[in-house]
Amino acid sequence: MWWVEPGHLEVKNNQLSVGGHLATDLAGRHGTPLYVYNGDKILKNFRLVRDALARHADNFCIHYAVKANAHVQVLKLLGQEGAHADCVSPIECRLALKAGIGKERILFTGTSVSNRDLAELVDLGVRINIDSLSQLRRLATFSRSPEISIRWNPGEGSGAGLHSHTITAGKYIKFGIPEAKVLDAFREASELGMKVVGLHQHIGSGWLGDDVRVFLGSVRRTLEVAREAERILGRPFRFIDFGGGPGIRYREEQSPFPIEEYARGLVEAVRTAGFSCTLAIEPGRYFVAESGVLLLEINTVEEKNVPVIGVDGGFNTLVRPAFYGAHHEMVLCNRVRGPCERTFMVAGNLCESSDVFNENKKELRPLPEPREGDILAILCAGAYGYEMGSAYNGRPLPAQVLLLGGKDYRITERGNFEAIVGGQALTTK
Ligand SMILES: Cc1ncc(COP(=O)(O)O)c(C=O)c1O
Repeated sequence: MWWVEPGHLEVKNNQLSVGGHLATDLAGRHGTPLYVYNGDKILKNFRLVRDALARHADNFCIHYAVKANAHVQVLKLLGQEGAHADCVSPIECRLALKAGIGKERILFTGTSVSNRDLAELVDLGVRINIDSLSQLRRLATFSRSPEISIRWNPGEGSGAGLHSHTITAGKYIKFGIPEAKVLDAFREASELGMKVVGLHQHIGSGWLGDDVRVFLGSVRRTLEVAREAERILGRPFRFIDFGGGPGIRYREEQSPFPIEEYARGLVEAVRTAGFSCTLAIEPGRYFVAESGVLLLEINTVEEKNVPVIGVDGGFNTLVRPAFYGAHHEMVLCNRVRGPCERTFMVAGNLCESSDVFNENKKELRPLPEPREGDILAILCAGAYGYEMGSAYNGRPLPAQVLLLGGKDYRITERGNFEAIVGGQALTTK
């Protein structure tokens, strides 16, 4: 069991425990489908990155990418540990503020940002990372007060990520200002009288070993742009933000993310280029993915054309397998170690053929012989899980539980009929 980690995921008497709690007990107490996050594991992963950077740099900050897991309790945990916040919508900014992360610690990086969004962001007083010339010009028409930074796209060969959907640099990418226009953007911002204080890149999400080299290549390109941009502005940047992306181990064959190589390489590149401004990064997945487990109840075990296990959640609960072909380990909570004599399709409860938790419908999963009523755990579900959920098919969002200091806190109630029908007009009169 390569994923066993003392204090986090353990197997005792062939039963899965999470943060010292039996998974089946959590499912019994809170119901399924259920997201469970181990707060200690979130803090552990945050500290790994923070301490690695601190070994090499003295002027850095970590923006937690709120989109990975936007629960206010998760934001509080990380905020109290010193995290700043990377937010992609005004509501994410408001969640970060609610969690006690002050506006001076929030950077908004949106895309296709409307004037309504801009007005709200100006009211909130957060920094705005500019994604397009249009956004820059529209912002300048009604406020020059926010501090801004500019997101650029380091171009072809600079993107990296787990899947083509998570690569965010290159030609056919909607984000940021392309290389050919980025210096003009700084000139224009300066002429418009905007307070430009930073430069930003984010090349993609979920990188592993070799991707760190691609990342460090993009860092060097960003630093070249930064030098030119500072010349245009006539003063040094307050910060350069190198984005998020550090991946985690979703399957046994993958190696753990090389944090030391990443931190050392990044800090050395910035230092060698002669910059002394704040070095910022904004990981999301790395801090929260491993902390989270999705618990599902098995309601059907049947020999169809292939052996099928039916569970009480679907891609509305965790979309990563259906959307990205993503692999997640699955564990039978009360018979973890098997023996595994058969392989199964693990099917969700949505009326969609793509609604299976195997990364590929034809790649059946070896599991111990399941029984109806068993609890199945899907591991590494703490990032881009609940956040990408929906109430499709009238299947409400699940409850969420945070484990902290030996206790389990229900931090989100399960959705229900009222939550779904609540915003609907029940009459047209
Ligand atoms: C601008 C930006 N920053 C940071 C992140 C976080 O990425 P990750 O969770 O892979 O660290 C994302 C993810 O999409 C992003 O778009």
